[in-house]
Amino acid sequence: MVKTSELPAFRRPLTNDPTGSYTLPARYYTDPAIFEREKTAIFYRTWHYLGHRSQVANPGDYVTGRVADQRVFALRGRDGLLRGFYNTCRHRGHHLLTGAGNVALFITCPYHAWAYDTEGQLRSARNCDHLKDFRKEDFGLPTIRIEEFCGLLFANLDPKAAPMGEIFVDLAADLRARVPAIETMKLARDFAFGGPSIKANWKVVVDNFVECYHCTPSHPAFAEILDMSKYRQDDHGLWSRQLGVRTQANRTIYDIAADDPMQDAGFWFMWPTTTINYLPGKSEINVSTIVPQGHEASGFVGHQYSPTGEVDESRFDYIANILGVEDKDLCESVQEGLHSLGFDQGRIVADKARSGISEHALHRFHLLVREALDA
Ligand code: FES
Ligand SMILES: [Fe+2]
Repeated sequence: MVKTSELPAFRRPLTNDPTGSYTLPARYYTDPAIFEREKTAIFYRTWHYLGHRSQVANPGDYVTGRVADQRVFALRGRDGLLRGFYNTCRHRGHHLLTGAGNVALFITCPYHAWAYDTEGQLRSARNCDHLKDFRKEDFGLPTIRIEEFCGLLFANLDPKAAPMGEIFVDLAADLRARVPAIETMKLARDFAFGGPSIKANWKVVVDNFVECYHCTPSHPAFAEILDMSKYRQDDHGLWSRQLGVRTQANRTIYDIAADDPMQDAGFWFMWPTTTINYLPGKSEINVSTIVPQGHEASGFVGHQYSPTGEVDESRFDYIANILGVEDKDLCESVQEGLHSLGFDQGRIVADKARSGISEHALHRFHLLVREALDA
């Protein structure tokens, strides 16, 4: 564990004023000891997206996910309550569930078949009756917090964490106003943006998501869909938002009709790992979480939802095979550059007008990371 005094020195300042500020030092992105510290200082005490209420509508329904290196799941009990658990068997630590689905009556471990009821109590353990001092009630599954926010399910490992409604002030109203169907959407597909693994620290992936300074040079088709002169970005502390208005180009990389329900675009970031976004076209949203795979790789995993459970395949093709690949390549090149002997801290490029290409949300993210690690 790195102590505060051992955190890398800031040769140049990360100041409160984004227009005078430098970025986090490169070691924050490359040092495994920093990542270890982030697990307890950030991941194990914050809210992380898991899925949607529609996936756990019935008793026995569950969704699995990860909070950094911790496997977790949310499950609706036969008593109708939604609970969260570590996805780890109390016998010898095998995972209990994979993906999403319904367990019917019991959660049965695939390894030696210990079986837990839907409230997490151990009900059956083969050949254990003769064990000295063995009591099934001592081997229930430890719980974690689960909250529903605008129909989305979030997990938090910290029993004392503040509720989401208290810390993501005004976000629920904003999401409901821009995505009226957010609570009633249906799952269309699982989706990993940029493929199963992006060879970059999780913060590189966040940095790339929260700024659109790179959009025009690095995403030419994106800049034809959205009018970058009207793009804007707001920072609300623990969440930020980017909004775009579609261009009236005759041909874009996928077809957008004048009467499609979404004529604009929205990209939200919720500290520290959740993204919610939609592009112009049919009604559909993508919700994802950035899951570190060690200190130099990340999954950007989540789901697509729509009112019917169908999605526009041409738009999906663009997101999966062009936009996602472009962003993955950007992040991986940056990760390599963070190891360069010729690089340590970059410069935040923010403007006072907080324009669409200003990096003030990225600056906020760096302040939050430093604050969490310094605490
Ligand atoms: S590890 Fe689960 S039953 Fe053995
Ligand atoms: Fe991008």
